[in-house]
Amino acid sequence: MKLKQLEGLLGGLQQFSNPKAELEQYPTGPHIASRMLYTAENSFGDVTDKVVADFGCGCGTLGVAAALLDAERVIGIDIDSQSLEIASLNAEELELDMDYIQCDIKDLGLRAEVVDTVVMNPPFGTRKKGADMDFLSVALKIASQAVYSLHKTSTRDHVKRAALQHFNASSAEVICELRYDVPQLYKFHKKREVDIAVDLWRFVPKSI
Ligand SMILES: C[S@@+](CC[C@H](N)C(=O)[O-])C[C@H]1O[C@@H](n2cnc3c(N)ncnc32)[C@H](O)[C@@H]1O
Repeated sequence: MKLKQLEGLLGGLQQFSNPKAELEQYPTGPHIASRMLYTAENSFGDVTDKVVADFGCGCGTLGVAAALLDAERVIGIDIDSQSLEIASLNAEELELDMDYIQCDIKDLGLRAEVVDTVVMNPPFGTRKKGADMDFLSVALKIASQAVYSLHKTSTRDHVKRAALQHFNASSAEVICELRYDVPQLYKFHKKREVDIAVDLWRFVPKSI
C-alpha cells in the first residue's frame, strides 16, 4: 500500500468521543501514524507478516495501520473499554481482523515470544508521572524484534538511559523528530492547539 493511501485511510478513523485527561487520550494524527508504520515496514521489515501489539491503542490508529500493512496478527491493548469499542468499530469498518485486550499495561501477561513488534504512542507521563516509562519497560519485555514509540524530545537523554541501562534494550535510536499537534481536547488547554517536539524511537530488545 502507498503511503498516501495509508494516510488517507487513517484520516477516516473515528477518534475519542469522550477523551479522558487522566489517561492522556490524545490521538496520533494520520500523518505521523502513517509514517511511523510505513517506516517500520519499509526501512526495517518489522510489520508485514509480524505479530504487532499496539500498546495504549486508544481508537486503534497504529494497530489499524499495521493491519493495513499486512501484519500477520494485530493486538490492541488499552485500559479503557470505550476506546476499545471505537477501535473495534474502526477495524470492522475497514474489514480488518484485530484482537483486543483490556488491561493496565503493567498487568499485561503476554509471553515474550508471542509478539514481534510493539508500536505505541504512550501517555507522556504529564498526568501520571512515569507512565511513559511503564509502557517502555513492558514493551521491551514483550517484543522479540522491535519497539516503536513516541516520546517528548525533552526526555531524550532520560529515555535512552532508561532503555539501555534498565529496560532490556540492546539499541535505542531516534529515527526522526516530529512536530506533534495536540488538539484542544481538555478544559485546561489554554490554546486551540499546541505543538510539541516528539521523537520517534526504534528500540531493539536484547535477545532472550
Ligand atoms: C496518547 S493516547 C494514544 C492513543 C492511540 N494509541 C493513538 O495513537 O491514537 C494513550 C493511550 O494509552 C491508554 N492508557 C493510558 N494509561 C494506560 C495504562 N496504564 N494501560 C493501558 N492503556 C493506557 C489511554 O487510554 C490512551 O488510549
